[in-house]
Amino acid sequence: EIANVDAWEALDSRGRPTVACCVTLSEGTQGVAAVPSGASTGRHEARELRDGDERYGGFGVRAAAGHVRGELAAAVVGRLAGDQRAVDDALRRADGTRHLERLGANAVLAVSVATARASAASHDQPLWQVIGSDPLLPLPMVNIVSGGAHADGLIDIQDILAVPVGATSFAEAIEWAGRVRLGTARAAEELGIVASLVADEGGIAGRLPNNRAALELVARGVEASGLVLGEEIGLALDIAATQLLTADGRYRLETEDRTLDAVELVDEIAAWCAAFPLVSVEDLLGEDDWEGWRYASQQLRTIQVLGDDLFVTQLDRLDRGVEDGIANAVLVKVNQNGTLTGGLDVVTRARAAAYAPVISARSGETEDTWIADLAVGSRAGQIKVGSTTRSERTAKWNRLLQLEHQLAGSNAGRYAGPAALAPYG
Ligand code: PGA
Ligand code: ZN
Repeated sequence: EIANVDAWEALDSRGRPTVACCVTLSEGTQGVAAVPSGASTGRHEARELRDGDERYGGFGVRAAAGHVRGELAAAVVGRLAGDQRAVDDALRRADGTRHLERLGANAVLAVSVATARASAASHDQPLWQVIGSDPLLPLPMVNIVSGGAHADGLIDIQDILAVPVGATSFAEAIEWAGRVRLGTARAAEELGIVASLVADEGGIAGRLPNNRAALELVARGVEASGLVLGEEIGLALDIAATQLLTADGRYRLETEDRTLDAVELVDEIAAWCAAFPLVSVEDLLGEDDWEGWRYASQQLRTIQVLGDDLFVTQLDRLDRGVEDGIANAVLVKVNQNGTLTGGLDVVTRARAAAYAPVISARSGETEDTWIADLAVGSRAGQIKVGSTTRSERTAKWNRLLQLEHQLAGSNAGRYAGPAALAPYG
C-alpha cells in the first residue's frame, strides 16, 4: 500500500522543468518516474501546470510538484499500488477538472506512473509486466528529418520518419534506422546542411526549398544506406498540421509560400504517397477539421492514417473518429490523457475498433524509459520516440533492445513487425 508520495522539479531534454515523483510503499519499495512535455500540443490535451513566474522563463513546475506532495498524495496514500485503476481514478477525482488543469496533468501523471513502478518493484517485476503478461516488441517509427515546431520551422512538416518494414527483429529495425539516418546526414551535407546540428527529437534539421525536398532527401538517404526503399524501409510523415492552421482554417506552407485548403493539402500528400513508399501519415489536417479528415481517410485508404492532435489520447474523440470512419490509427501519448489507465484504455479501445495504437514520446522527454515498457506490456505494436541520437531518445530504444535481448528464446513471435501497421488485413 502507498505510504508516501514525494515530488520535485527535474529537467527535460529542452532544459525545461518537469515533474519527477517517488512513490514509497509501506514495505519500503519505491517507484520513481518523470513526465514528458510537448511543443506541438493539441488544444484538447490534458493541461500541464506551469508556474508562470520569473524562474525558467515561466516554465517552472514547483506548484505542480507541491500538489503531488499535497492533495494528490492525500488522495492515494493508503491505497494499493497494484490497483492502478483505483489510484488513477482517485487522482482524477482529486483534481476534479476535465483536463486536469487545477492540479496539473504533469503532477497527476507523475504519480500515476511512479505508482506502477512501485507496484512492479514490490513484485520484483519489470514495469511491462504490471501492464501485461504477454510482451510484444513494437515496430519503431524513427525520425530522420525534423521541421515544424521541433526545428524552428525550417520546413513545415514536423517529422519525416523511417519505418524499417523489412526488419525481422527490433534490434535489426533500429540498426537499419540508424543506417538511414547516417545516409541521410551524408546526403544532407551535400546540400550544405550541417547535419551534426539536431532538432528537438534528434532529427536532422536544415533549410530546404520545399517540403517534398525533405522526402527526397530521406529517400536519397535510404539509397546511400544500401537498404532498399519500399521493401526494407518505408517512410512516414507527421505533418502536425494544427501548427499550420491560418485564421480562415486553411494550411500555411511557409517554406513554399503557399496556403492550401484541406482538400488541396490532402491531394498534395496523396501525390507524395504515389511518389514515395509512405506507410503512415500523422496529423495531416488540423485537430478540429473533422470534415477534412473524413476526406483524407477516404483518399488514403491503403496506408496508416494516424491521429495525434485529433484524438489527443482521449476515448471520446477516438470514439467519434471510429463512428465516422476517420483515420485508422491513434497516437498514444499518455500525458495527453493524464493517467496510465487512461492511456491503456485508449490502446484497448483502438484494438477493439481495429485501429492501430502507436505509443509515442513527446518532443520534451527525460531519460525515463517507461513508455518502452508501456509499448511492450500493452502489445501496442508500434512506437515513435524520435531519432537515433540524443540520449532521451536512445534511452527508450536501449530499453527495448534490453527487453528484446532478455525475452529472446523464451517465446517466438515477440516482435510485432510491419503487421502492426494499419490498415489491417
Ligand atoms: P510534441 O510532438 O511532443 O511536440 O507534441 C510529437 C508529435 O507531434 O507527435
Ligand atoms: Zn504528432
